[in-house]
Amino acid sequence: MKMLMNLVAFALLFNGCTANKVADALIQNSCKEVPKFTGMVSRWPHFENDCIASLKENPQSQKARNIDDLIMVGANNAISNLTNVKRIVEKIIKERKYKSSLSKKSLEDCLKLYSKGSHSLISGLNYIKKGNFDDAEHEYTDAVKAPIFCELKFNGDNQQISPVKKENNLLVTMIQIPELLIMKATWH
Ligand SMILES: *[C@@H]1O[C@H](CO)[C@@H](O)[C@H](O)[C@H]1NC(C)=O
Repeated sequence: MKMLMNLVAFALLFNGCTANKVADALIQNSCKEVPKFTGMVSRWPHFENDCIASLKENPQSQKARNIDDLIMVGANNAISNLTNVKRIVEKIIKERKYKSSLSKKSLEDCLKLYSKGSHSLISGLNYIKKGNFDDAEHEYTDAVKAPIFCELKFNGDNQQISPVKKENNLLVTMIQIPELLIMKATWH
């Protein structure tokens, strides 16, 4: 009996390990091939590593068996990332941690951009669920404008320093992950 239990435990463990290896290999290959495939690898030197790290961070990714599963994980990650960045900006405004009234105005503009972006990301996820990758891709192209235009509010004529520069840069990548995975999945 004990031996049988050991055997069962071993089989479960072994199964779990191979499953993780399958998911990890899928994540690595997908993140690696995406930027090359779009010819954008030089623009985002960190893309591959950020893509792998963020997908692995979500436990759902361990259940992924194909690129469609990974797209779902990336789509959900992008939503929670944007929500977090939005909360950070709301907190800065609420606690009056901004450097100037001009900076406050820019942060308020960013909140509007994030709201639009959030709308696009949710709509993108719904398109993915329906298997409509073309429309989903457009939503991601729109959503990525939120962190990009938010940064431009600071670095444009205003010459203010964005308090969420790092967060916005990461958010761009987090939105590009599902976008580029979709491009890879729909490439003929
Ligand atoms: C966004 O996601 C990245 C990658 O998982 C993470 O490092 C970063 O802290 C997240 N940002 C926020 C504000 O949650």
